[in-house]
Amino acid sequence: MTDRLSDLSKRALKDIRNSSTLEELDSVRVQYLGKKGSVSIQLKKLSDLDPSDRPRIGKEVNKLKKLVDQEITNKKNSLNDEKIKSNIEDSSLDVTMPGRTSIIGNPHPVSSTLNEIEKIFLNAGFLVEDGPEIEDEYHNFTALNIPENHPARAMHDTFYFNTQYLLRTHTSPIQIRSMEKYGVPIRVIAPGKVYRRDSDITHTPMFHQIEGLVIDKDINFTHLKGILHDFINTFFEDDMKLRFRPSYFPFTEPSAEVDLLSKDNHWLEILGCGMVHPKVLTNLGIDNETFNGYAFGMGVERLAMLKYGINDIRLFYENDLNFLNQFK
Ligand code: PHE
Repeated sequence: MTDRLSDLSKRALKDIRNSSTLEELDSVRVQYLGKKGSVSIQLKKLSDLDPSDRPRIGKEVNKLKKLVDQEITNKKNSLNDEKIKSNIEDSSLDVTMPGRTSIIGNPHPVSSTLNEIEKIFLNAGFLVEDGPEIEDEYHNFTALNIPENHPARAMHDTFYFNTQYLLRTHTSPIQIRSMEKYGVPIRVIAPGKVYRRDSDITHTPMFHQIEGLVIDKDINFTHLKGILHDFINTFFEDDMKLRFRPSYFPFTEPSAEVDLLSKDNHWLEILGCGMVHPKVLTNLGIDNETFNGYAFGMGVERLAMLKYGINDIRLFYENDLNFLNQFK
């Protein structure tokens, strides 16, 4: 009997040791300590024994039961610890791994070109002014000496809302608004979006201009030439060649268009300019005997295209990240 118990004990301890999961261990527990388990059966068998043997054998069976029970508890604890450890390992974070970086955008090339231009003129003492994109025909045309039925209105390919309101076709109305606001003398630049019914490789229906206006006493054309040369050389960080071509704008007299000699030796038109027409000043009640000045308006996309070697203006507005990411 004692031998059988010691055999049973050995088998039980071996099975416990070999259990590798909590489920396996539980079936071992049922196998030995369950109602019909091998150890439980030994306890039941005690009643069949000779009464004189019962206390001794009973003690041994109880010892065995306690031992198996204790071993199962120990094994259970160690299997639980292992499970927790492997759970931690599986779900833990390797803080030495490179992080997932978020994509940081960058200013649109037109915006950064505008900022650059503004900075150059701010350094030259100009004030930056703003104006509405939905403009009235007085500020966009009439005040700029483009009366109704004047052929120059037809040249503008205007988007009209009705007979009075339109999308501004140039930034020149801000000349008028600035003088209304500050009077003269004045020295402003006005960047902004302008709109024309035009679309091809060099035109988009919306594009950007920067307007410049200087009104003071004794201003002449050389001041205009000087500021434009300084601006262009600073902007392109190079000694650039400009060509002033006589032209016509109703709000300047004399007027000129300015071409820039590109790196591959082509003259490219970049801006319109001239001495502010005396009529524009009298329209605003400014004494044109005492005050005069110059104005210019340039295309921002044009300048950006020249600076960065872009040959199609539409690239600016297609939102192609392969294009935009080059300006980081
Ligand atoms: N407003 C003119 C244009 O859009 C440019 C210009 C501005 C010309 C100021 C002269 C003076 O073409």
